[in-house]
Amino acid sequence: MTASFLCNRRRLEGALTLPALIFLSSLATGPGAEAGFTPGSTNAVITIATAHSALNLWVASDQRLYQLGYGAADAPVVIPEKTPVRELEFYPPAGNGFILEPALQATHADGNTSTDLIFVKQSETVADKNIRLTRIELKDGFYPFFVTLCFKAYQQQDVIEQWAEIRHDESRPVTLYRFASTGLVVPKADEYWLTQLHGDWADEAQLVEEKLTSGIKVLDSKIGVRALQFRTPSFLIALDHQAEEERGRVLGGSLEWSGSFQLAFEVDMKNRLRALGGINPFGSQYRLVPEKTFVTPGLLWSWSDQGKGQVSRNFHRWARLYGMRDGDKPRPVLLNNWEATGFNFNEARIVALFDGARSLGADTFLLDDGWFGNRHPRNDDKAGLGDWQVNTNKLPHGLSYLAEEAKKRGVDFGIWIEPEMVNPVSDLFEQHPDWAIGQPHRQPILGRNQRVLDLSRPEVREFSWKVIQDTLGGNPGIRYVKWDCNCYVTQPGSSWLGPEEQTHLLIDYQHSLYEIMGRMVTNYPHVMAMLCSGGAGRADYGALKYFHSFWPSDNTDPARRVFIQWGFSHFFPAGALADHVTRMGHRPLKFTLDVAMSGALGLDLDVSKLTTEERKMIAHAVSLYKRDLREVVPPGDLYRLESPYHGPRAALCFVAPDRSRAVLFIYQLKAGEGDAVKLAGLDPQKRYRVHEVNLPEGAPSQLALEGKEIEGSVLMGDGLVPPVRSEYTSAAIELRGE
Ligand code: DGJ
Repeated sequence: MTASFLCNRRRLEGALTLPALIFLSSLATGPGAEAGFTPGSTNAVITIATAHSALNLWVASDQRLYQLGYGAADAPVVIPEKTPVRELEFYPPAGNGFILEPALQATHADGNTSTDLIFVKQSETVADKNIRLTRIELKDGFYPFFVTLCFKAYQQQDVIEQWAEIRHDESRPVTLYRFASTGLVVPKADEYWLTQLHGDWADEAQLVEEKLTSGIKVLDSKIGVRALQFRTPSFLIALDHQAEEERGRVLGGSLEWSGSFQLAFEVDMKNRLRALGGINPFGSQYRLVPEKTFVTPGLLWSWSDQGKGQVSRNFHRWARLYGMRDGDKPRPVLLNNWEATGFNFNEARIVALFDGARSLGADTFLLDDGWFGNRHPRNDDKAGLGDWQVNTNKLPHGLSYLAEEAKKRGVDFGIWIEPEMVNPVSDLFEQHPDWAIGQPHRQPILGRNQRVLDLSRPEVREFSWKVIQDTLGGNPGIRYVKWDCNCYVTQPGSSWLGPEEQTHLLIDYQHSLYEIMGRMVTNYPHVMAMLCSGGAGRADYGALKYFHSFWPSDNTDPARRVFIQWGFSHFFPAGALADHVTRMGHRPLKFTLDVAMSGALGLDLDVSKLTTEERKMIAHAVSLYKRDLREVVPPGDLYRLESPYHGPRAALCFVAPDRSRAVLFIYQLKAGEGDAVKLAGLDPQKRYRVHEVNLPEGAPSQLALEGKEIEGSVLMGDGLVPPVRSEYTSAAIELRGE
C-alpha cells in the first residue's frame, strides 16, 4: 500500500452511505436556517423521567441548556435564581467560554474553532407505555450547526438512553474533533467512587474501584476492533462512599459501542463530577458534510439510591427486553468442540461428538474454528481466514450434511465464523491485499497471524456479508452461529478512504459491522447467535442487540470464571453470558457445573474422555438446569450477596420476578468458616422450601435446612448456613415458595 494509492482510491462523497450518517430532513431548520432561527423559550424545565429517577434540565436566560439534577424521581427541583455556571452546561461545546473537558469540539467551515449551543425547542414522543423519547434541539448562535440531544426514557427499567445527532448546513464540511454521546453532571457528593471492568485476554472483567480526585480520569480503547479486550465501556459511580450492593446512591453507565471508546470523568475545582462518554475522538476526527447527520451511539444511564445491585437489575431488565435478542427466551445448552478438539478434527470425529452431545442433554452442537480453507487449510491459526469454503479433507460432505447428521441424533447444529478477518496466507489476501487495514510504508503488524478487513470499503462489506449468506443461507440446517473476532487494529489506515477521511476508518468500520450484523438478524432470524471476540472483546450493548449471548472469556477455569462472571454481572444479565463447562483448571466437576449454571449453561468437552461418573454428573446437571434452574436464573433478579473480592467465597441469588422461587449459588474459593449466607430479594412473608440440588448421585445434602420451609424474612435476616467450607466446594440451592 502506498500514499499515492490512498489518493487514487478516494471514494466519491456521494457513496458515503453509512447508517449513522442518516439523512434527516425532518428537523425544524433546513438549508439557510440561520436566518430563520428563533431562540426557544427560557426558564423551561425539561424533565426526563422514569419510574424512580429523573434528569432535570433547564434553559437559562442565556438560552443555554443546563443540568439541574439527576436522581430520585421525587427529589425537589430547585430552579436557580440566576444563570448557572458554565460547568453545569449539559452538553458543553468547546471554544466559547467552556474551559473543561467538552462534549463537543468542532471546526466550522470558515475555520472558527468555537461552538456555542443555544436551545431551540424540545419535543416528546410517547412510543409506548414504557418508552418516552425526548428530543432537545440546540443550534449554534451564529452558524447553521445543529445538535439534537435525544433521550429514551425506559420507565419500568429506570434506564435513560442518551445520544446526540449532529448536523450542519455550512458551505463546506465541518470537522468534528469531539462528539460525546453524553456529558452528564453527576449529582453532587463529597466523594465519587468509580468502578470499571478491566483485564485482558483470558482475564476479562476484573472489578476495580477507585476514588476520583481532581482532574480527569479517562477509561478508553484506541484499538478500534476487538476494542474491548482490555476494558469495557461500562462503569458505575458511587456517591459519598464505595459502592454497596443494596444501599447508597449509584449511577451506572454503559455505552452502546463496540469500537474505540472514551469515558472521561472530570472532577472540577468545586468538586463537581462530569461523566462524558462516547466514541473515542482519538485519531477519529470526522469531516461532516452538510446535510448529513452524525449520530453518536447511545449511552445507557441508570440511577438508584438503593445501591449498585439495583442498578445492575435495572440494566438486566432493560437488556432482556431491549438490549439482546429474544432476551426472554431460554438459551439452548450448547456443546462446543473448541476445547475438546481445537483445529484437529474430521467428519467422523465431529459426528461422534453429536452422540456425546445428545447423551449429555445438550440442545445444540457448535462446530468451532478450523472447518474451512483448502489451498490454505485452516489447521492452525496461521492460514485460511478469508477462504470460507468447507475444507474437503476434513469435512468431505460439507456443513449441511453435518447439520443433518446432528438433527438425526436430536441436536441442532451451529457454526463458527470470523468474517471480518484475513490471514495473509489465504487466497483472499493473495487476490486482495488492499482489503486489509494497514498503513502504507509500514511493516504490517499481525495479531494472531491475521489482519482486519477494511469494512469501510463497500466490496469488503459485501464480501463479509456473503460469508454469512453462504454459510447460513447455503446451509439452512444451521441453527446457531458464533461470530468471533480475534485481532485489533494497530495501524488504522484504509486504501479505500481518501487522505482527509483516513480518520473516519474506525467509526465507518463499526457502522458497517453493525449493518452486516443487522442483515444477519433480518435474514436469519431463526439462527441464534453468540458474540465472541477472542473472549469478551465485544461485551457491549452496541453489538449485543444482534446476539443472544456473548462469550465472557477463553478462561473457563471456574476459579477464575467466578470473578469474570461476577464482573460482567454488574451490567449484563445471566442469560447473556455463555458459561461453559470445561476441564480447564481441573477443579472438582461439581464446582465447575455450579459455576456454569449461574449463566447460560454450555459445555466444551470431549465426551469420549469423560468417565462414566462424570458423564452422569454432567447429564444430571444439564437436565436440572433445563428443567428447573433455567426458569429462574436467566430471567431472575440478581442479588450479589457475597463478593469473591471481599472474602473466601462468593454467593449470589436469582429471584423470580414474582418472588415465588429463587436459586442460590455459593462458591467456596478458599477454605472458610461457613458462616450463614443472608439472602436478599425474597418475599419476607412467604415461606420457602429449601432444597439443595446438583448433588452427586446418592449423596445426601449436608444443608441443615434441607427440605425445611422457612420464611423469607428469616432467610434474609438470619440466613442459611451453607454446606460448604473447603476450597472449590460449592452449593446450588433452590427455594420454592409454598
Ligand atoms: C477465540 C474464541 O474466544 C474461542 O472460543 C475460539 O472460538 C477460538 N477463538 C477459535 O479460534
